[in-house]
Amino acid sequence: MSKEQTYLKIKKLREQIEYHNRKYYIDAHPEIFDREYDLMLEELTRFEHEFPDLIIPDSPSQRVGGEPLKEFRTVTHRTPMLSIANTYSEDEIREFDARIKRNLTGENIDYVVELKIDGVAVNLIYENGIFAVGTSRGDGTHGDDITQNLKTIKTIPLRLQRADSIPSVLEVRGEIYMTKDVFKKINKEREKKEELLFANPRNAAAGSMKLLDPKIVAARHLNIFVYEIGYMEGAACNNHVKAMKLLNIYGFRTNPHIQYCKNISEVIEYCNSWQLKREELGYETDGMVIKINSMAQREKLGATGKNPRWMIAYKFPAKQAATILEKIVVQVGRTGILTPVAVLKPAGLAGTTVSRATLHNQDEITRKDIRILDKVVIEKGGDVIPKIVSVIKEARTGKEKKFRMPHKCPVCSGDVKKVDGEVAYKCENLKCPAQLKRRVQHFASRRAMDIESLGPAIIAQLVKKKLVKDYADLYSLEKENLIKLERMGDILAGKIIENIKESKNRSLSRLIFALGIPHVGVLSAEILARKFSSIDKLKKAEQEELEAIGEIGKIMAGSIKYFFERSDTEDVLKKLKDAKVKTEETKSISGKVFAGKNFVLTGTLAKYKRHQAFNMIKELGGSISEGVSKKTSFLLAGASPGSKYNKAKKLEITILTEEEFLTLIQTTGD
Ligand code: IVH
Repeated sequence: MSKEQTYLKIKKLREQIEYHNRKYYIDAHPEIFDREYDLMLEELTRFEHEFPDLIIPDSPSQRVGGEPLKEFRTVTHRTPMLSIANTYSEDEIREFDARIKRNLTGENIDYVVELKIDGVAVNLIYENGIFAVGTSRGDGTHGDDITQNLKTIKTIPLRLQRADSIPSVLEVRGEIYMTKDVFKKINKEREKKEELLFANPRNAAAGSMKLLDPKIVAARHLNIFVYEIGYMEGAACNNHVKAMKLLNIYGFRTNPHIQYCKNISEVIEYCNSWQLKREELGYETDGMVIKINSMAQREKLGATGKNPRWMIAYKFPAKQAATILEKIVVQVGRTGILTPVAVLKPAGLAGTTVSRATLHNQDEITRKDIRILDKVVIEKGGDVIPKIVSVIKEARTGKEKKFRMPHKCPVCSGDVKKVDGEVAYKCENLKCPAQLKRRVQHFASRRAMDIESLGPAIIAQLVKKKLVKDYADLYSLEKENLIKLERMGDILAGKIIENIKESKNRSLSRLIFALGIPHVGVLSAEILARKFSSIDKLKKAEQEELEAIGEIGKIMAGSIKYFFERSDTEDVLKKLKDAKVKTEETKSISGKVFAGKNFVLTGTLAKYKRHQAFNMIKELGGSISEGVSKKTSFLLAGASPGSKYNKAKKLEITILTEEEFLTLIQTTGD
């Protein structure tokens, strides 16, 4: 195909992709299957790869293009990003209406009422229809240039669509938010990785916007609702209803629950109708925003220093109450992390009785100066467990006691240690019953020792019956032990014993991952296995030696050192060796680093063409497959990955970025 022909093809593909993007994300009426969409995107990236000079910044392939930034550029907003005056009282809403009427004597006032989305405000600047710059609110006058991060949000159009006239400059304001579902999922993943949890979807969205690496932002699956035109040159709208319609035509996502109201009574009625209904939404709202519809009237009213006079937020009644904190108990999570929990004098809160609240961690308790017997204010937000907002210090009698995290685990009396560089405290005992189930599950999981049929329910019984006190005990199980378990037949028991036995020969990298050393994931395990070629050698590695390895870093190196220095680790390792579990890599398959590894590729690589990557993998002994399956070892994901990415995530296949892939190739054994 000539370059001209390719150009036309690329142009057509971009238009089609944008059209279907809108159908899917904005209108929620997809017209094609995801697979067809992915294929179009793949085709586009392929053409663009061939003719890189045809790539333009607003191409749909460029959403997750950029490299991590060092820092954000500061931008001065053309018009300040103000905040909204707010109230909790219906009377004050009526006063707001009366004040407007006093200021605009004789004029007819109509309103628009919207949900107040609980996220972070952003400003999107379009120049001649192309998304040029996106900024955070910052201090209202200056914000950060977060364009790279915003481009990863599929509901932000990279180019304005389908309109007769495109404004030469358009600034749109909106709220970036995270749905409740995504929030839960991300926190679950963070919990698995032993990372600190986000307190609520708003914090998660705000935290994500501050990340310097757009690839991580893309994985946060953020979304946007736009709610105001901040500035427009070359087009005009005389009221808010029309402005929202226009934004929608341009391809922006506006909230479907916008309501036009003729007068303040209608406004109040509509606001109240959302008090309970809002719980059913997939995202969080903290109130309603009441805006004057007419742009001319808005102009006349202007703004005070901080807030426009033409709008007010009607906040939902706070879900707060005051009660006594009777004691603090410490729970041990599945990963050994100790979480202090407040036991409260039961109090009514948003229709339920609350007797417990999370205290997150010691730092939080210290920061808020929460003491046992304090009178505290508790709050319930969305579906998050109640939390303590503040202490009523005036109510103190002198009997209140400070809390200190225990030095011994409340479940097993094992040593408790503060996690380096984090606020969490952790029970260090590998055999702590609170963690054991989870550790054994991890050990047996597919990416670790891959012991088929040994699922969570069986592991739970083995731990409960004390047949397994650490994961090495799996290797001394006998068929008779298993048969006694619930829902266990002769055949299954035999199969599991067989599978356990068979797992003794897994690769060293699997074993290293299976040990459950904090911070050591599949990729690091792979690199460690390659560097050290046996558990004994890894055990002897010095901190500096570990730190010198590209992917490892200080925290992981410390964690590895600490793991091998512990006497209980020694115990477990000895048991594994006695059971003849393979603890060294026999370089039988010609020592090739990818021997036995199956790769799938998705998206576009920056440094290599597809076939080059394929050749490299093959030369290093690996194999390549078209589709992701349980057998896939790694998904190599370039920019704009297709549906394979989601499938790999679902199957918990290790996903490698291009850089990770290169690191893997470059780490060779000694
Ligand atoms: S209009 C003057 N409409 O609430 C600010 N804001 O507490 C113009 N917000 O900073 C914004 N939903 O981040 C507007 N439907 C909505 C909103 C909304 C949420 C946020 C916005 C603003 C904050 C003020």
